[in-house]
Amino acid sequence: MKVYAANVKKYEENRHLVCGIAKAGAYITVEYISHSRSGTRHALLAHRDGIVWHTCQANENKRPCWHLGMAASLWDWSVPVDVTCHLEQRVLNYLWWDATQDYLGRPGNFQLVAIKTTGEAAPEPPPVTEEPEIPIPDEDAWLKEYKLPARLLEKVIRFREAQKARLSEEQKARIPKPRYISSENELRVAVAALLYGENGENWEAPLLIGPKSSGKSTLAETLAAILRLPVAQKVFGGTDVNAEWLLGGKTLQPVEGVDPVVEAKLKIAARQAGIDLSDVLPKLKQANFRIAHEAGLLLQAVQAGEMVIVDEVNMLAPEVTSLLHGLLDWQKVLTVPGLGTVKAPESFRLVSCMNYGYSGTKELNEAFQDRFRSVQVPHLPEEQMAALLVRETGCERDVAERLASLFHKLANRVENGDLPERILSARALMRAVRECRDGCGDLKEAAMSVLTEGLGDKYARDQVKDIVEACLV
Ligand SMILES: Nc1ncnc2c1ncn2[C@@H]1O[C@H](COP(=O)(O)OP(=O)(O)OP(=O)(O)O)[C@@H](O)[C@H]1O
Ligand SMILES: [Mg+2]
Repeated sequence: MKVYAANVKKYEENRHLVCGIAKAGAYITVEYISHSRSGTRHALLAHRDGIVWHTCQANENKRPCWHLGMAASLWDWSVPVDVTCHLEQRVLNYLWWDATQDYLGRPGNFQLVAIKTTGEAAPEPPPVTEEPEIPIPDEDAWLKEYKLPARLLEKVIRFREAQKARLSEEQKARIPKPRYISSENELRVAVAALLYGENGENWEAPLLIGPKSSGKSTLAETLAAILRLPVAQKVFGGTDVNAEWLLGGKTLQPVEGVDPVVEAKLKIAARQAGIDLSDVLPKLKQANFRIAHEAGLLLQAVQAGEMVIVDEVNMLAPEVTSLLHGLLDWQKVLTVPGLGTVKAPESFRLVSCMNYGYSGTKELNEAFQDRFRSVQVPHLPEEQMAALLVRETGCERDVAERLASLFHKLANRVENGDLPERILSARALMRAVRECRDGCGDLKEAAMSVLTEGLGDKYARDQVKDIVEACLV
C-alpha cells in the first residue's frame, strides 16, 4: 500500500492525538486517543525488515490511512511499504513501552495511558469519561445519526434554534436535505470548523477535498441542513464567474415621478380641495430613475446571512478568489466597489469543494487555501457504499453488494497505480443499476459499459473489463 502525501498531511493534523509509541525489538506499535466516544484506539504498526505490518479500520477497507502517514513521518521510509497482514494479539502482548524519545528525539507530548513490558500485566487504562447526554428536540432527532461530540452537538442545537427564529418560510424551503453518509471524521470536523468559538463566532469555512463523486457536494449541502441554513444558488467555479456576477453592479431603478400634465391636474384638484402641494411637488418632480446597486449572488447571500457553497473552487480565477478573502478572515466582511464594506451577519457561512486534477483546475494559492479548514472526503467503504446504492436506486441488497465490491477492487488497482483515478465513480454504479433495470443489458454488461466507455486508454479499458468480468459473474 502506498503512503501518499495526503496521509502524511492527515497525520500532521492528527499528531496531537498520538499518546504512546512502544517498541519491542524490531516491532513498533502506536496508540492514539481519538476524540470520539470510543476513547482510546489502537493504530497498530510494526516495522521489520523494511516491511510494515499494520491493521486499522481504513486499512481493512483497503484504503490508505493516516497511521501509515504517521509511520512514514517517524521512520523516514525510503523503502516501499508493504501492508500484508494483521498482527496477532500475542505479538501485541510484548510491545508496550514508550519509545517516543528513540523515534522523535524528544519526549512525547502526551500522557501515556498504558505501559506494559514483557511478562507484566498492563495497568488499567484511565476510565473514559462518559459524554453528557444532550437533549435533542424531536424534529432534530436525525442529527443523532452523525454522532457529533456533546459540546459540538450542543452548539449545533443552539445555532438551529436561533435560525428557526430568523428564517422566513421562503428561506426554510431552501434548506437542503441531509443526504450525506459519513464514514470517517470528515463531517464532524467540518461542522466543528463552522462553529469554532463559544457561539460559532470564530467559524472557518471548510474546504472539502476529495476524488470525483466522493460526496463533497452532498456533504456541503448536509452541513447546511445541520445548521438549518438556506442555500442560495450555488457558485460553480469557471471562467464565467466574475466579480459582477458575485457582487452585482450599478443599475437604474424607477422612482416615483410626475409628468407636467399630471402636475397641472394635481394643482387644480389641490386648489379646489384647499390643499397645499408646495412641499410634495418638488419630490414628485425628481427624475424618474435613480442609480442603485443591484446585489449579485454572493452579496445577496451575505446580506441574508445564508450559506454559500462554492463548488470546484480551484476553477475560479484568482481575481474572483481574492474577493472571498475578507469573508474568510476573522473580520468576515465583503468589500463591494461602490457600496463599501458589508459585514456578514452571524449566521452567514461558506463551504467550498474541490477535486484535485480535473482539467481546468489549478493548485489553490497557498494563502487562499490557508484561510480554509481543509477536510478530506474519502470514498465510502464497501458496506456503506452498498447501503448508498440501495438508498439511491432502490436496488436489491445483493446487487448493491456486488457493485460495491467491484468498486473497491477497482479502488485497489487505482491505489496501486494500475488504473486512473477517474474510473472510480459512485455515479457510474448508480447508472449501471438504472440501465440494467431498464433492460439495457444484465448487470455485468451495464457495469462494463458505464465504467469503460469514457476511457480513452485501451489498456485501462481492458483492465476494467477483466475486473468486471471477474467480479460480476
Ligand atoms: N458519502 C456519501 N453520502 C451520500 N451520498 C454520496 C456519498 N458519496 C457519494 N454519494 C452519492 O454519489 C453521487 C455524487 O455525489 P456528489 O455530487 O456529492 O460528489 P462530489 O464529490 O461532489 O463529486 P464531484 O467531484 O464530481 O463534484 C451523489 O448521487 C451522492 O448522493
Ligand atoms: Mg461536486
